Amino acid sequence: SMLDICVLPGDGIGPEVTDEAVRVLDWFVAKRGVQLRMTRHLFGAASWAAQGTTMPEATWDAIMRADALLFGAVGSLDQTHIPPEERRKGALLRMRKALDVFANVRPVRAWAPLAESSPFKARTVAGADLVFVRELTAGVYFGTPRGIETQADGTRRGVNTHTYTEAEIARAARFAFELARTRRNHVTSVDKANVMEAGRLWRDVVTEVHRADFADVTLEHMLADNCALQLGRTPTRFDVIVTDNLFGDLLSDCAGAINGSLGMLPSAALSAPGPDGRRRALYEPIHGSAPDIAGKGIANPLGAILSAALLLRWTAGRPEEADRLENAVEAALAAGARTADIALPGEAVLGTRAMADAVLAALDAT
Ligand code: NAI
Ligand code: MG
Repeated sequence: SMLDICVLPGDGIGPEVTDEAVRVLDWFVAKRGVQLRMTRHLFGAASWAAQGTTMPEATWDAIMRADALLFGAVGSLDQTHIPPEERRKGALLRMRKALDVFANVRPVRAWAPLAESSPFKARTVAGADLVFVRELTAGVYFGTPRGIETQADGTRRGVNTHTYTEAEIARAARFAFELARTRRNHVTSVDKANVMEAGRLWRDVVTEVHRADFADVTLEHMLADNCALQLGRTPTRFDVIVTDNLFGDLLSDCAGAINGSLGMLPSAALSAPGPDGRRRALYEPIHGSAPDIAGKGIANPLGAILSAALLLRWTAGRPEEADRLENAVEAALAAGARTADIALPGEAVLGTRAMADAVLAALDAT
């Protein structure tokens, strides 16, 4: 059946890379019979400039109705001219919470054509192929009380609360174990059980879920600081890493170094299956709006394009087409296609559109 995809290009390089992801998905609609209807909607700083609101009603309705969202990036250099309540309305956190997309899937892999190019070797780790499941809708980014208070002596105190319920931990763990079964059957659960109460509960609940339903998957526990070290040292030891919102944010950026560029990392944020068996989903490259290179046509579109591959896998239910797209990205890289962020001195550099053309050419060749 036809899937309704709400496209939110957003700010900065968001529209540039999202246009290319849409063009690639159009190829799958035209050539592989994938049934998607993609509709663009305004929001964020771009929408504030055009319509005086960061989240037009029509956009919010479309977000809530859609089978999935394809998202670019939010954030302009200077948002101080936008009133705080409008900034909150357009915030990504609000969207994630409303959709209850608790499982943030962030695959990280060393693309062989980059890892094998010898000067590039220093920047990638050959063979690394791991995926983060970052809990996305709870933890310290959402816990209350929160705020900046003035104390009796007139000095200020900043407060955030790190909280996790058993249910929040269990559903993230369950998701990670199920994902591991489709991969190399190994889960590393990351916490700070040594110093944090929510971390102690995290470890207990992951262990219980494992024992009850996933004894066929191997489970190891790792402290978050050690995980940062191991990601730098031997990333090939990891398969699925499940962790909380804060550690997942930091560690998945660390892992970005493994693949060479922030511009090549995709993500999916998924809810539990609804009554129709379908998960709500938000797909986006992990990079931001990159104001330093916006408008120049030089951004790497592969993070957005690989997010489209995740959409084919998780929303369209077409894993063979997702593989086809990931293989086409690898083939384009193998043929020497490089945007500025992954080019070595002396290598020819492609712009955003030309890189997507290289992927489309590789798709045509399949
Ligand atoms: P950023 O990810 O936008 O940029 C970091 C660096 O990586 C920059 O030098 C940029 O040029 C480069 N870069 C990022 N994506 C690239 C791509 N596709 N191709 C080539 N180079 C790329 O992070 P930054 O600078 O910290 O934040 C800029 C704005 O983006 C801020 O307003 C921030 O709040 C927002 N942001 C939004 C996110 C989102 O929409 N999910 C995530 C992270 C930041
Ligand atoms: Mg981040």
